[in-house]
Amino acid sequence: MFQSKLASFLRRNKTLGLYSQIRDSSSRFSNESSFISSRLFSKSSTSFYTWRSTLYAYRSLNKGFPSRSSRNISTTATISSSSKEGSKMLITAGSHAQKLVGIWIFGSAAWVFSMVVLGGITRLTRSGLSMTDWKFTGSLPPLSEEQWLVEFDKYKQSPEYKRVNKGMTIEDFKFIYWMEYAHRMWGRGLGIMFALPFSYFLRKGYITVRLGVRLSALFALGAGQGLIGWWMVKSGLEEPESEYVQPRVSPYRLSAHLTSAFAIYCGLLWTGLSVVMPEPPAGSMAWVRGAAKLQRLVLPISVLVGITAVSGAFVAGNDAGHAFNTFPKMGDTWIPDDIFSMKPLIRNFFENTPTVQLDHRILASATLLSMGGLWWASRKLDLHPAIRSLIGSTMGMAALQVTLGISTLLSYVPVSLGSAHQAGALTLLTLMILLNHTIRRPSSTLLKSLGSVVRTPAASGS
Ligand code: HEM
Repeated sequence: MFQSKLASFLRRNKTLGLYSQIRDSSSRFSNESSFISSRLFSKSSTSFYTWRSTLYAYRSLNKGFPSRSSRNISTTATISSSSKEGSKMLITAGSHAQKLVGIWIFGSAAWVFSMVVLGGITRLTRSGLSMTDWKFTGSLPPLSEEQWLVEFDKYKQSPEYKRVNKGMTIEDFKFIYWMEYAHRMWGRGLGIMFALPFSYFLRKGYITVRLGVRLSALFALGAGQGLIGWWMVKSGLEEPESEYVQPRVSPYRLSAHLTSAFAIYCGLLWTGLSVVMPEPPAGSMAWVRGAAKLQRLVLPISVLVGITAVSGAFVAGNDAGHAFNTFPKMGDTWIPDDIFSMKPLIRNFFENTPTVQLDHRILASATLLSMGGLWWASRKLDLHPAIRSLIGSTMGMAALQVTLGISTLLSYVPVSLGSAHQAGALTLLTLMILLNHTIRRPSSTLLKSLGSVVRTPAASGS
């Protein structure tokens, strides 16, 4: 499904469309055999080019003769599966299994995305501290008025009730309770929806050992995420050191919770992409070289985007969006006076409101500038059109994210803009993952096959 979505996305590109598909010959398909076929359509105002490159890897076969394609240019490369780097296939049972596993992994990634957004809304509506205990397996919500009163009484003992919500009605309490309950149960639902198909696919033998290990690690991270969540909430249920401080969860724990969610999401997305696209789109050696040059820029920018997102988690964790609600200046100055008022110095970067917000502004600006630089540098490179489109989309998303961030700040962090900004960060990460995945180095077998690509005169368009 994802593949066809990507294909139609690529086809939308006016000058060139890419259609890449991976097939297998059902029962003959095994760990060591794969069939990868990719077609590239190129259209200019005066000519129509098509490349088709097909890779076969069969257990014992080495029929190294190119077969003709019906298109103008045709190359077929045959590779031996015994080659060390061989096929990058992560699925062992053919295209149907590949499709099912792909849908499952992308579905799980989408679920994590929704979890993050729901978690953000829970935090922004100040609902996160309404449930004062936690069980790994979860429990039923209060079902009678008496049970609601019991839960409400427990909440009344919490510092948040005493200092922020004193006098709250039970109806208001029910709202914040349901928000937190939904967030927790949605997480447990994800655990089940991940584990059941996983065991089914394992039993069916669809999954390679490499993929199985990767998915198990992601599952363990997911289970750990629940524990980190409770560890975070617990910090908000403790009495703050000073009576003037509002109770809130530790910014370190909130960042750990958010960063771990981002890591799970990116891990699932990368794995899903690797399942449906074992090889990056690579129509010619020139494009592969262009992608390699781009990689040197994209990798550090991806790290920068990641650090900016984590710094955003500290802005949220310190409620730093409720101070200095001006842009580009912070109040009347560019740099507030007290940015290094805490000791030791390092604490300022994680706990001092002006410093945390200033960091986020600087990092976000650096992200946008470097994204602009990437787009500029990519203009001179010979790149696959899919990669070019991705760079444009990523650049656009970075600009939108900065706009959302500024709007969130200027309007004192309303729930709508706050969660849109959070979803924007995830969308930007999605595009970065997609870009990194698309420009990765093809396997040595694919590279060798590209070396044997021959252009026929008809295909040259002259
Ligand atoms: C590439 C650019 C940016 C990225 C990737 C990014 C990412 C993030 C992330 C991940 C969060 C945490 C969201 C949450 O947990 O609710 C956040 C929060 C925040 N960001 Fe950004 N951000 C960017 C740009 C900006 C800019 C330019 C500003 C404004 C100057 C800004 C202002 C804020 C504010 C005020 C919050 C706290 C919102 C809250 O309390 O929920 N961001 N950002």
